[in-house]
Amino acid sequence: MKFDAHGFEISKSVLAKASRAYDDLSAGRVSDMTGWLNAADGDVIARCADLGAKFAEDSELIVVVGIGGSYLGAKAVTELLPNNGKLRFAGNTLSGAYYEKLLRELDGKDFSVIAVSKSGSTVEPGIGFRVMEQAIIGRYGRSNARERVAVVTSPEHTLLGDICDANGYTRLILPDNIGGRYSIFSAAGLLPIASSGIDAVAFVQGAESAAANRGAIISYAAARQTLYRSGKKIEVLSVWEPNARWLGEWYKQLFGESEGKDGKGLFPVSLELPADLHSMGQYMQDAERLMFETMLCFSGTAGITVPKREEKVDNLDAFSGVRLDEVTRSVKDAVIAAHVEGRVPVIELTPGELTTQSAGALMRFMMTSCAVSGLTMGVNPFDQPGVEVYKSKVRLLFEGKDRCED
Ligand code: PA5
Repeated sequence: MKFDAHGFEISKSVLAKASRAYDDLSAGRVSDMTGWLNAADGDVIARCADLGAKFAEDSELIVVVGIGGSYLGAKAVTELLPNNGKLRFAGNTLSGAYYEKLLRELDGKDFSVIAVSKSGSTVEPGIGFRVMEQAIIGRYGRSNARERVAVVTSPEHTLLGDICDANGYTRLILPDNIGGRYSIFSAAGLLPIASSGIDAVAFVQGAESAAANRGAIISYAAARQTLYRSGKKIEVLSVWEPNARWLGEWYKQLFGESEGKDGKGLFPVSLELPADLHSMGQYMQDAERLMFETMLCFSGTAGITVPKREEKVDNLDAFSGVRLDEVTRSVKDAVIAAHVEGRVPVIELTPGELTTQSAGALMRFMMTSCAVSGLTMGVNPFDQPGVEVYKSKVRLLFEGKDRCED
């Protein structure tokens, strides 16, 4: 990962603090919730690869039920990388229209279900799993459905785990020392990823190579915290690949839930460029100076070029015959110059070519940098007390207390 800073300098004292935070994190001195820093267990990877291949072979569609960290990683990866196109997602909405459409799509097709919930008691995926379980039992009968349902949950007793064990579904573990938004390299992410036909081994190998990025991981964390201390309140992640829009959603959860607490934290948002330059580009250039931008641009290898034209009619000849990836790089440099001129400091992250390995490396880079940034700011990047407040109120509702009748 290449790191560049445009329009600002990283504070030396913040850099030193981030560097200490990185070393404390790596040495296991800051929290028990750092299981994601360990190499993913070979048996778990093999089990996910085998079961994923079986689901892919037996199914035209595979429904992944989960929300937050139990869904966004797999969604981001399967949007980013080429795959078999069989994954659908549920448990992340309460929209009846969404479920009606999904059930219509499943009608007449062979399908499997993967339910992911660490706590096993989150309401939205709980309802999603009821809907999907009813559909799969209705289709295949209770005993044949068993072969088509897998559950990823905590090793402890959970409600979802109990349903899984009672019905003989396959159970995989989301270890206690890995939180939802850090779970992409556990069975929570790897089983859906393998089911989509993406090489889970290569993805994990990429993550392990990210350790070599110590300097860039610390620089990114220190840059964010330098800019936060200078009064910036918003980080805008700008991606240059349409398929990376969902990576932006994953990034928002990772940083927002890890750092937004104790009255502190940058507000993470994401844009896709150049499309959003023609909408939010106005705000970026010219409105409240609350934000800095983190620019993420993969180097592409696609051969498509700007076609040549004999007549000089559209003012595009300077780039005639040039590959679109190179055009992107030139446009990106112009946008950085414009935004810096508009007093938006820019962090530039260049992860290289987009491959399964580099996607794994990027996500591990982001997770580590996020943890370092939170520790540098003095918050616990591994808890989510704010999310728990809403969850407990909704649980009360479903226990029959406070139900609104209309
Ligand atoms: O990162 C987190 O911890 C959260 O986003 C959880 O993943 C999310 O709330 C879902 O929780 P669970 O997996 O327990 O259903």
